[in-house]
Amino acid sequence: GQLPWLLHGTLPASRVQNQIIRKALTEEKRVSTKTSAADLVTETDHLVEDLIISELRERFPSHRFIAEEAAASGAKCVLTPSPTWIIDPIDGTCNFVHRFPTVAVSIGFAVHQELEFGVIYHCTEERLYTGQRGRGAFCNGQRLQVSKETDLAKALVLTEIGPRRDPATLKLFLSNMERLLHARAHGVRVIGSSTLALCHLAAGAADAYYQFGLHCWDLAAATVIIREAGGIVMDTSGGPLDLMSCRVVAAGTPEMATLVAQALQTIHYGRDDEK
Ligand code: IPD
Repeated sequence: GQLPWLLHGTLPASRVQNQIIRKALTEEKRVSTKTSAADLVTETDHLVEDLIISELRERFPSHRFIAEEAAASGAKCVLTPSPTWIIDPIDGTCNFVHRFPTVAVSIGFAVHQELEFGVIYHCTEERLYTGQRGRGAFCNGQRLQVSKETDLAKALVLTEIGPRRDPATLKLFLSNMERLLHARAHGVRVIGSSTLALCHLAAGAADAYYQFGLHCWDLAAATVIIREAGGIVMDTSGGPLDLMSCRVVAAGTPEMATLVAQALQTIHYGRDDEK
């Protein structure tokens, strides 16, 4: 299968990519903006994405790819039944630009529109998170298990700001945070990387995660990892997850996921497959 190959074949090569990211982290970067002044990209995002795709394409010439920087350059983000790799070359680009050491590479794989496995690499702490449908989730070989908390008043909740900074979006973002704090959540954290926040959830280091304005490449690998760690990943409406909907609630228990979803007001970001 692709996962063993990815882990044993690509990871030595992806260590090269990791070295590229770690070296670039401390260097001066040329930064460009994408959809907003807070939506950043560097040459390293492009370089790492190209390396990952060319390596995978060589091994799996018939497979399809959805990748962050290709999408930013206008490639369509449509998940077909064909085997598809869903790639974020650097998640936490803003952290990367500022040398804040919370940066990851995320690679998910779907067939028949079903997520099969995901790999997320925390570049600076050298933690490899993996999940494969039906086979569990692991961090550096240790099995992951989500928190069993059901009470929002005892929860540590993670979120991310999302790219938009217009007053209406910020008002909704802050009022969602306020609602969770009114519900007496122990804390709300923003670490600057959706994928690593979701890995913390999978590891039981937080009880819930929600976000509006993330993308399929932020969610694909992490969704498998959380589900395999026993957690729930769903739509902010309370319905099933839609990978292309740019929104998510995830939690260790269905009770917690529902409480968080019920507290939220929707921020409309559109869909990845309609851009
Ligand atoms: C972004 C980061 C950010 C989150 C965005 C993501 P990128 O990914 O995870 O924290 O708020 O929604 O798209 O652009 O750094 O790969």
